[in-house]
Amino acid sequence: MMKKNSAVLLAGMMAVSLAACGESSEAPAENSAAATAAVAAATAAETSADETTAAADTTAAAAVTTADADAAAPTFDLSADPYAGDGVLTVGLNATFPPFEYVGDDGNPTGFDVAMMQEIGSRLGLTVEIEDMDFDGIVGAIGNKIDVAATGMTITDERKEAVNFSDPYYDATQSVLLPADSAAASKEDLAGLTVGVQAGTTGEMVAEGVEGIGEIVSVKSFNQAVLDLVNGKNDAVIIDAVPAKAFLSQYPDALKIVDGETMGFDVEQYGIAMPKDDAELGDAINSTLKAMKDDGTYDALVEQWINNYEAE
Ligand code: ARG
Repeated sequence: MMKKNSAVLLAGMMAVSLAACGESSEAPAENSAAATAAVAAATAAETSADETTAAADTTAAAAVTTADADAAAPTFDLSADPYAGDGVLTVGLNATFPPFEYVGDDGNPTGFDVAMMQEIGSRLGLTVEIEDMDFDGIVGAIGNKIDVAATGMTITDERKEAVNFSDPYYDATQSVLLPADSAAASKEDLAGLTVGVQAGTTGEMVAEGVEGIGEIVSVKSFNQAVLDLVNGKNDAVIIDAVPAKAFLSQYPDALKIVDGETMGFDVEQYGIAMPKDDAELGDAINSTLKAMKDDGTYDALVEQWINNYEAE
């Protein structure tokens, strides 16, 4: 409680001083649409074209949006929350899923989901701690080892028996990574092939549903599955479309993609997975996600992390 109030107060004071700054600069925040756009630019700072102007706009605009967010968004007091009450939101993920989560240059997990959760955490006054773990252990760890999971996790009925999901935040389909010279072009062509998947994923389920499929090799990390494909140990990998593209960019000459539509795979949706017994945390996360979509921050993160992803 104390901590939260003082954080809000501090944010308010910063907003006032930043607003003052903005007024004296040459780029006043004229209206909230401009402010929103500038904040989106600030979030995706690297994508901004004119750095000087953007910097001035950003200072003014950040203040306006902070003030707006305080006024419009309901504030959530999570101080008594069973999971977030300690001020720390522990987020589980498996960092072999670029650009949603992967191990960055500094050896730490990074990517879209990390950035999204850090933004949600900061808006809720929570410190986000990332726990990189095996994908097939994540659902079972929610509510004990970790508080929530943000890991490109598809919302499925089966998982919903164990956890709650936030509102969907990204659409996906499974697609198939193949050697560049493969003749496979349809689901039927996967018959008899050795297919690599990540254990516990919807890609594994899709593979199990392919009639006549050869061997399904379930491994702990997508990096491994793709490496096995590049090295000829398997014939294909079933993996979500956006990560498929990210891996393709690492091996552009060796691999190709047949997309999920061509393969006849269903559309999936990603959600943040949360403990079943915590509706309040769910509300807080959903409202924050919505506010981020409304003010352009969400799209800026998509632009920065997904549309502009470059393999390292
Ligand atoms: N969307 C798929 C699923 O939910 C794959 C997710 C894999 N995520 C990861 N971080 N490895 O099953």
